[in-house]
Amino acid sequence: TSNQMWGGRFAAGPDAIMEAINASIGFDKRMAAQDIAGSKAHAAMLAATGIVTDSDAKAMTEGLDAVLAEIEAGDFAFSAALEDIHMNVEARLKEIVGEPAGRLHTGRSRNDQVATDFRLWTRDQLDACETALEALMRALVAQAEAGADWVMPGFTHLQVAQPVTWGHHMLAYVEMFARDLSRVRDARARMNECPLGAAALAGTSFPIDRDMTAQALGFDRPAANSLDAVSDRDFALEFLGMASICAMHLSRMAEELVIWSSAQFRFVALSDRFSTGSSIMPQKKNPDAAELIRAKIGRIFGANVALTLVMKGLPLAYSKDMQEDKEQVFDAADNLMLALAAMEGMVRDMSANREVLEAAAATGFSTATDLADWLVRVLNMPFRDAHHVTGSLVALAEKKGCDLPDLSLEDMQGVHAAITGDVFGVLGVHNSVASRVSYGGTAPDNVRAQLARWQEILK
Ligand code: ARG
Repeated sequence: TSNQMWGGRFAAGPDAIMEAINASIGFDKRMAAQDIAGSKAHAAMLAATGIVTDSDAKAMTEGLDAVLAEIEAGDFAFSAALEDIHMNVEARLKEIVGEPAGRLHTGRSRNDQVATDFRLWTRDQLDACETALEALMRALVAQAEAGADWVMPGFTHLQVAQPVTWGHHMLAYVEMFARDLSRVRDARARMNECPLGAAALAGTSFPIDRDMTAQALGFDRPAANSLDAVSDRDFALEFLGMASICAMHLSRMAEELVIWSSAQFRFVALSDRFSTGSSIMPQKKNPDAAELIRAKIGRIFGANVALTLVMKGLPLAYSKDMQEDKEQVFDAADNLMLALAAMEGMVRDMSANREVLEAAAATGFSTATDLADWLVRVLNMPFRDAHHVTGSLVALAEKKGCDLPDLSLEDMQGVHAAITGDVFGVLGVHNSVASRVSYGGTAPDNVRAQLARWQEILK
């Protein structure tokens, strides 16, 4: 039998393979609530403009509520023969309310319907991302507050570079996630135009009121060009672009947690709640959540690439290719939300090892720059000369197998006669971080000022 929605000109039904490649109900049933909200807004508008009677609209609305209740209760029989969520809902509506159901699709097409549903779904995800990012930022701020002035090694090339503060390192991630958050908000503001009423591609001859449906669905305005409205998937790509960058940030942080929780570093201890054991090695406590977060960028960026390539070269307006948009966004959204929640939990639970951090901060000649700066400041040496003298002192310490503060004054004066005992004042890691008072620097006072700023923003 031919399709009851569009089978008028068909003598035969689709081949089983045709149905298999065509049906999207297996995944787009996730947009049921959005589809029904869109249909209810459309029904109310059809009545308000006199396109259908009030009693027909009432039947549609009540019927749509009944369909949603069935879906939410889990006793809706989804049918692949009905292809997608849009036709599944409409077919069931017909069974429940009869003839008025057939008037619902007046002045509308599945093309503007799916564009509307998918926008609503993606918008909900952006809102959920906003909440999750704020929660993660709060967890990082709490860590920064607990250890605003704890010293740790700062790295470049993963080699010890200069001491920094734990609070400063935590707030570096807050900055990154704050930019992700601003990308979420930008994307939401830009995508918030309603495609409904664009119909198949050209608009409609019915006297529809697009402002009314746009407003009912929480959009800022109707999309201005019907061809664009049904063809545009930028909003999905922006979601995936945002998600890719955010997942990249999560991956970098996850990598640090993997390194920091190792026996060689012991900078942090992850909680039992966010660790796993080994089935053979009884002593093991593994950072699996961090590793999985580190990996999520793979599928999320993959989704971004996949949808970009699906959209590339598509002529206007709708093509069925675009049905391939949803699974990518669904999967990326699910995994981004999971990664954000897991990172928040891990950060909230983890305990930084203050003593280990401080001891590590002093290794690797980490205050060599402070020594060079002292030579410039006190002995008025040009920085390049100071760099050279300090390099000789580092080489001497290395030869003696000690750190810079362990050299004697005689050792130092052997390299440069004018050095005085005052120099030892700058070689300690606490003095080092306390001196980094330039705006944005790692000094505890700066960190506390930034903390206050974030606490105000996030309260
Ligand atoms: N399931 C389709 C999709 O996800 C809905 C739109 C179908 N439109 C059409 N003209 N066949 O894109």
